Amino acid sequence: MAAMQAPRMARAHFTVLLFLLPILLTGASPPPDPVTCTHGTSDCTVTNTYGSFPDRTICRAANATFPTTEQELVAAIAAAAEAKRKVKVATSHSHSFPKLACPGGRDGTIISTERLNKTVSVDKAKRLLTVESGMLLRDLVNVAADAGLALPHSPYWYGLTVGGMLATGAHGSSLWGKGSAVHEYVVKIRIVTPAPASQGFAVVRELVVGDPDLDAVKVSLGVLGVISQVTFELQPRFKRSVTFVTRDDKDMVEKLAVWGGLHEFGDVSWLPRQGKAIYREDDRVDVSTPGNGLNNYIGFRAQPAVGLLAARVAEERLEENGTDIARCLAARLPAVTFELQAYGFTNDGVFFTGYPVVGFQHRIQASGTCINSHEDNLLTTCTWDPRIRGPFFYQSGFSVAVSKAPAFVADVQKLRDLNPRAFCGMDAKMGVWMRYVKASSAYLGKPEDSLDFDFTYYRSYTEGTPRAHADVYDEVEQMALRKYGGVPHWGKGRNFAFDGAIAKYPKAEDFLKVKERYDPDGIFSSEWSDQVLGINGSSPNLVAPGCAIEGLCVCSDDSHCAPEQGYFCRPGKVYKEARVCTFEQTRLVDEL
Ligand SMILES: *[C@@H]1O[C@H](CO)[C@@H](O)[C@H](O)[C@H]1NC(C)=O
Ligand SMILES: *[C@@H]1O[C@H](CO)[C@@H](O)[C@H](O)[C@H]1NC(C)=O
Ligand SMILES: *[C@@H]1O[C@H](CO)[C@@H](O)[C@H](O)[C@H]1NC(C)=O
Ligand SMILES: *[C@@H]1O[C@H](CO)[C@@H](O)[C@H](O)[C@H]1NC(C)=O
Repeated sequence: MAAMQAPRMARAHFTVLLFLLPILLTGASPPPDPVTCTHGTSDCTVTNTYGSFPDRTICRAANATFPTTEQELVAAIAAAAEAKRKVKVATSHSHSFPKLACPGGRDGTIISTERLNKTVSVDKAKRLLTVESGMLLRDLVNVAADAGLALPHSPYWYGLTVGGMLATGAHGSSLWGKGSAVHEYVVKIRIVTPAPASQGFAVVRELVVGDPDLDAVKVSLGVLGVISQVTFELQPRFKRSVTFVTRDDKDMVEKLAVWGGLHEFGDVSWLPRQGKAIYREDDRVDVSTPGNGLNNYIGFRAQPAVGLLAARVAEERLEENGTDIARCLAARLPAVTFELQAYGFTNDGVFFTGYPVVGFQHRIQASGTCINSHEDNLLTTCTWDPRIRGPFFYQSGFSVAVSKAPAFVADVQKLRDLNPRAFCGMDAKMGVWMRYVKASSAYLGKPEDSLDFDFTYYRSYTEGTPRAHADVYDEVEQMALRKYGGVPHWGKGRNFAFDGAIAKYPKAEDFLKVKERYDPDGIFSSEWSDQVLGINGSSPNLVAPGCAIEGLCVCSDDSHCAPEQGYFCRPGKVYKEARVCTFEQTRLVDEL
């Protein structure tokens, strides 16, 4: 959908009850820190903002450090390099679903860039803005706006740090100009890497346009060192004009092929069960165009905790004991509610009076008000706050070459037509959100012009619990990644999606050579990053009983599903090469 986020962000995860509650509260407890240490800054655990990695484990680190200057950052890395201790950057805004924030082993150090969030310099004439890597996107776009400048593209969730956006290749939606990825607007990076003793165990490397290493550092999964400062080349400030148009999805396949060319910031959200597509017509307009619109996306606003709890109870009941008809009925409400409230857009910051909404880029490009407010003792929180037993979900994100995307979507429609009700779980979370991303020179950036697909779906709090119609989700994901050569978003998705992903990056070898030069001892590498990068042939799959139910493997045997509950490993229905956990009531009865 529309204003939905981003690398590690949630989409809308709402069920019926949430919308019936008047939201009058203005406070919001800020999200908890995914890094918690029991003794001051030592003996720490690391998770993500959702409080759970795909494998449901918690990572450990010996201690955490909070440099406030580049010098302190250099000292922290030098100390770790000298001791050959593992290191990783994590902040209170670690949104990546996979285990990118975990240092290797259990004795590593967390370097938080939280206090490295200052503006270093602004050059209005050259339109250059240099900031420290821990600055949030929220602050970055405001600093730019204050200087009369604009970052033309960004993810839609603003609770991400500059360093985090670069590490994971975060993007908005565009095929125009340099495209929608934040890293395309970077012209200089200062990164601190390990170094030999003769150089004091850590050095600052400054990379500018033209240096081939910049293509490694721009999207690095955090394995090359710690980015200290980033210089963006910005544009003069501009306004955007946004209109959402909901239509049936009959010609969506043809429209997807051209939509990215028609609107500079266009995206599309698809509600497969309802057969609807929500087109975001979003274009740059002159600053003189009247309008002071604001995007305060509903899904990123603070919600009353009681509503989140009730919504989850209702959702669990529907998932476990509901019928398809009941689930599908409930799934209609979120889209209706969001549409009625213009997804949280207003024409003046208060009221929505009609489309188009015209406003300055920094007020339109991203939102995330649930992270802003003062502590209110958990009366209200972000939807996904792990301290509340509220919505809990998987987040899938992958991209398929624009040239292949229409065929992929046509296949998904075929699968949908076989049993439309199996897709209600997607509608319930605002459907499949599609954004355009241009091919990048970054070694781990998109190899081709791509259409990025995102959706969130129900996750049980109990490990190994099958989901209703999990087979269609698994088939869609396997189809994208295997039949259509898609690549997973570095900051989203479950383990199986990363198996073999690196082989789809033609410049992966170049990336690994830079990694070998910058960090020969691999202190910035972890089990997860080695598996994702295919180092020594390791795989992110965790093959064990029930692994396919949790998305930790693709099933090849019934035991990878939940045969005792009637879920067996079967071929896909449209993509026959897929292997998915399929519910077979009759077989269960036979075997009992
Ligand atoms: C972190 O722990 C390691 C090993 O336990 C220790 O050598 C190092 O000095 C600690 N660093 C900080 C910043 O506390
Ligand atoms: C940096 O972070 C601090 C604490 O999180 C915050 O109060 C401050 O506003 C931030 N500074 C900038 C320039 O964003
Ligand atoms: C589903 O129904 C069973 C049996 O009535 C009950 O024990 C269980 O609590 C229900 N689950 C939910 C989430 O309501
Ligand atoms: C990869 O394998 C080589 C040779 O077996 C070994 O020396 C190295 O430590 C391994 N690297 C990792 C990251 O496991």
